[in-house]
Amino acid sequence: MNPVKAWRAEIIHCLDDPQKVGNDAAYEYFKDGVLAVQNDKIIALGDAEWVIATLPKETVIEHLPDAIITAGFIDTHIHYPQTDMIGSYGEQLLTWLNTYTFPEEGKFFDKSHARDVADRFLKELLRNGTTTALVFGSVHKVSVEAFFEACEVDNLRMICGKVMMDRNAPDYLTDTPDTSYQESKELIETWHNKGRLHYAITPRFAPTSSDEQLQLAGKLLNEYPDVYMHTHLSENKDECAWVQELFPDSHNYLDVYDQHKLLSERSVFAHGIHLCDSEYHRLHKTGSAIAFCPTSNLFIGSGLFKLNKAEEHDVNVGLGTDVGGGTSFSMLQTINEAYKVIQLQNENLSPIKSLYLSTLGGARALRLEDKIGNLAVGTEADFVILDKKATPLLTSRLALSKNIEESLFILMTLGDDRAIQATYSAGQCVHKR
Ligand code: GUN
Ligand code: ZN
Repeated sequence: MNPVKAWRAEIIHCLDDPQKVGNDAAYEYFKDGVLAVQNDKIIALGDAEWVIATLPKETVIEHLPDAIITAGFIDTHIHYPQTDMIGSYGEQLLTWLNTYTFPEEGKFFDKSHARDVADRFLKELLRNGTTTALVFGSVHKVSVEAFFEACEVDNLRMICGKVMMDRNAPDYLTDTPDTSYQESKELIETWHNKGRLHYAITPRFAPTSSDEQLQLAGKLLNEYPDVYMHTHLSENKDECAWVQELFPDSHNYLDVYDQHKLLSERSVFAHGIHLCDSEYHRLHKTGSAIAFCPTSNLFIGSGLFKLNKAEEHDVNVGLGTDVGGGTSFSMLQTINEAYKVIQLQNENLSPIKSLYLSTLGGARALRLEDKIGNLAVGTEADFVILDKKATPLLTSRLALSKNIEESLFILMTLGDDRAIQATYSAGQCVHKR
């Protein structure tokens, strides 16, 4: 047994979805709290005086009077091979893919290039307080091997998969139904549930897969029911029209995936902007989740995600950055943009709902809520230390805050990587500013 380590600060974490249980029952807050960790797990959380009395006398307690501690952020949709093309100008989805994305992903046949990008990508996630992500690789098997090998260095809880695409993409970036099935299977056998890693079967999106490839993706999911399925859905109007042309027998976009048995409790669909009621209903019925990616949806001009519709149909939702369509690795900045997307629909996104979406909601979307997503005793010690004095503006603005919800909202509006003082994964410090 390693010695107990403890941190004393303001501490907040989510217990449930505020939309379901009401705002106040959705979180727990300690104005002067202590979080205690032993090995990789949280062993105590509560008011400082009370927790300190229960800890071994020799416990080292790090006192952080200017900090707020919360759970590590969870990014439910991101592309690591797009790290170096973030901020590419002037296109909407389908031309953006052809102009910028495919040439960039073409570089990942080279494992040393893939490892270099994976290392920088993970460092960027940790600098931003993100401790778990659901990640697209490229079509190349080596891209996923390089990614998982990079994750093992810091024992991170990460999910990744090799892209499956056999049509409507350049030759240098396509596989075949058989090779995609075989290579995905080999990756599952090697990496799924190895340490804290998980595999996601990853057909890019309906337009770049043949019927045969989607059918084999469904077969794989049936053979390995505890792996993830990760793809894109109804992001852009031209894309939706194209899917209807390519799959004339489908009732709607989601139905293409449904017909190929790709909806499950571990299926995550990025975007889901232009959905009809029956699509929300099927997502709910099958326990599938949507990744809401506001910076990407605004940057590529895709549209406004209807959070109220997802809530109405009780569909699990997490937040995603969707880098490189998204413009920031920061979940704080992602929340900032999510707030504006909801404002444009004459509604409000509360700070507690935002915290929920970026932590416990993401964990629930990924079915990992027994391990990560909040600071419950017994769960893995993945957490972030937010610095209330990260910038002069944060310092002066937060000095006027009246309560924790207002403080959180200010941090979500003004904060970014500068506000992340430190990030811990499984009890180990993996980033210190
Ligand atoms: N749809 C298919 N591929 C992609 C991608 O790489 N990014 C986004 N945002 N949408 C996609
Ligand atoms: Zn994406």
